[in-house]
Amino acid sequence: METIDELKLILSPEKIKERVGELGRQITADYQGKDMVVVGILKGAFIFMADLVRQIDLPFQMDFVRLQSYGAATESSGQISITKDVELSLKDKHVLVIEDIIDTGFTLKYLIEMLKLHETASVKLCCLIDKKERRKVEIDADYVGFEIERGFLVGYGLDYDEQYRQLPGIYHLSPRYEAKGFFPSDR
Ligand code: PRP
Repeated sequence: METIDELKLILSPEKIKERVGELGRQITADYQGKDMVVVGILKGAFIFMADLVRQIDLPFQMDFVRLQSYGAATESSGQISITKDVELSLKDKHVLVIEDIIDTGFTLKYLIEMLKLHETASVKLCCLIDKKERRKVEIDADYVGFEIERGFLVGYGLDYDEQYRQLPGIYHLSPRYEAKGFFPSDR
């Protein structure tokens, strides 16, 4: 029997765009005169980062890391490994890490420890969504787009089983139900 996921829009593309613009202006003001490298965490952050960097009116370099967390499909176990490292030198650079969501916090905790080994001038975090419901380790982002209490979120880079990343808004994903021609009307 055909089933489909139910998607409920919680952050519209317009709302995200407005907040990304605000974050970009704030980062532009804070990083004046600093030698900055923006580091995105693949894959989830790719859309947020693409939009955000175009709102930062400064010269800077960009790089990416990819981390793998082991565990169930929807929750990290805390066991993280790096599958793609940074390629630029981060020594004496002001590093701004771009992440789509902080959930348990394991991913960022691991990455920050790893980045400390690069003798950076500073490391700050910019996260689109800070979700504290399942937080296991203490992590505070310096720039937060939205605080969302709970729920499994997809869209704007966030996936479930590698699907939904391309949705322009952010949706709450509910358990599967029997399909009757449903399609997210706000897409
Ligand atoms: C997701 C998300 C964050 C991480 C947050 O990545 O993009 O990187 O989980 O979870 P945490 O705070 O519990 O560690 P995922 O491992 O699903 O990979 P992806 O970015 O490729 O989707």
